Amino acid sequence: MNSNDVVIELQHLTKNFGKFTAVKNISLEIHRGECLGFLGPNGAGKSTTMKMIAYLLRPSKGIIKIRTDGQLKSLNGQNKDRLLEHVGFLIENPRFYKNSTPRQILTYFAKLKGYPRQQIKSRVEQIVSMMGLNKWIDEKLHKFSKGMRQKVGILSAIVHDPDILIFDEPYTGLDPAVRIEVRDFILKLKEMGKTVFLSSHLLYEISEVADRIAIISHGRIIACDTLENLEQQAQSSKIHLEVLNAKEIGSSLITKLYEILQNYIAANSISYYDDGSYYTIKFDGNPNKQHQILKLLIENDIKVLEFSVPKAGLLESLYLDYISKSEDQALQEQKTAIKVEAIL
Ligand SMILES: Nc1ncnc2c1ncn2[C@@H]1O[C@H](COP(=O)(O)OP(=O)(O)OP(=O)(O)O)[C@@H](O)[C@H]1O
Ligand SMILES: [Mg+2]
Repeated sequence: MNSNDVVIELQHLTKNFGKFTAVKNISLEIHRGECLGFLGPNGAGKSTTMKMIAYLLRPSKGIIKIRTDGQLKSLNGQNKDRLLEHVGFLIENPRFYKNSTPRQILTYFAKLKGYPRQQIKSRVEQIVSMMGLNKWIDEKLHKFSKGMRQKVGILSAIVHDPDILIFDEPYTGLDPAVRIEVRDFILKLKEMGKTVFLSSHLLYEISEVADRIAIISHGRIIACDTLENLEQQAQSSKIHLEVLNAKEIGSSLITKLYEILQNYIAANSISYYDDGSYYTIKFDGNPNKQHQILKLLIENDIKVLEFSVPKAGLLESLYLDYISKSEDQALQEQKTAIKVEAIL
């Protein structure tokens, strides 16, 4: 990656609320055209970070740089409108006046963001149809479902055609069909070359759209890389295995699997799941080993129906690994702080 590709740079970003530090010394680069997924448990500091980029909250320490006219510039009270001109935000659940229509809301945001006046009408109609809301463009919001309101929220973030999009939990409260529509919409934005910074709790959604993933816990970034690199660093990956007649064989196959794969996996790395009649095999993520494991299964007459390393499952196990390590560390820090307080 070229440093000219960085469009947002966070340097040592920190936010204190009184004595509590919600965001601790975060440094992060977001590159042009990438989708960076932002993952973390409730209260980890995702919205606080995004609100600081939107200038809705001021950092206690650190700098936010945004590329404007080819240069990275530090965001401040004087230049915020100019620097944020090319950024679109969906922060937490947007609340709109219920008697207004999508056309009115989106026209308002387009004007506010300085979109060329004579093009606003066609722009609003274009994006409303991209989201499949054509028929609803002049209907009042009180008739809308939660999913439709969320779609209007997403459109309000993109109406001025920004290059960078910051979406905080865009999938909140959406049913699976609308979620797929929103995912496809985000993929479309990526195809257009937009940069997307996206927070979500839905690991599957993140694994489908994100090029890189930043994991935040207790206000700290504890990992930031591509899914493949995170997998290599963590040296853990999970194979999903389905075999013929698994319902009847069930966990009785596990002993045989250990015998066959003993040189490739550690103890306690095979599990059987009754509800889906499938097995999982933990291994270190090395593709050569993955190939060997499959070969051995076939050679030993295991009737394999499916053998895969699902991205979402992988992200889930990596996420839980990272978060549990960070929980341990936070607990240690808390204990040390209590000891220090006691000494003082
Ligand atoms: N205005 C505020 N005053 C005091 N504390 C706050 C404020 N805003 C956020 N916090 C605290 O900062 C921490 C981080 O909150 P934040 O909303 O950034 O988390 P999040 O990662 O977005 O969580 P979620 O996944 O639940 O949306 C939380 O402990 C929250 O209670
Ligand atoms: Mg949040």
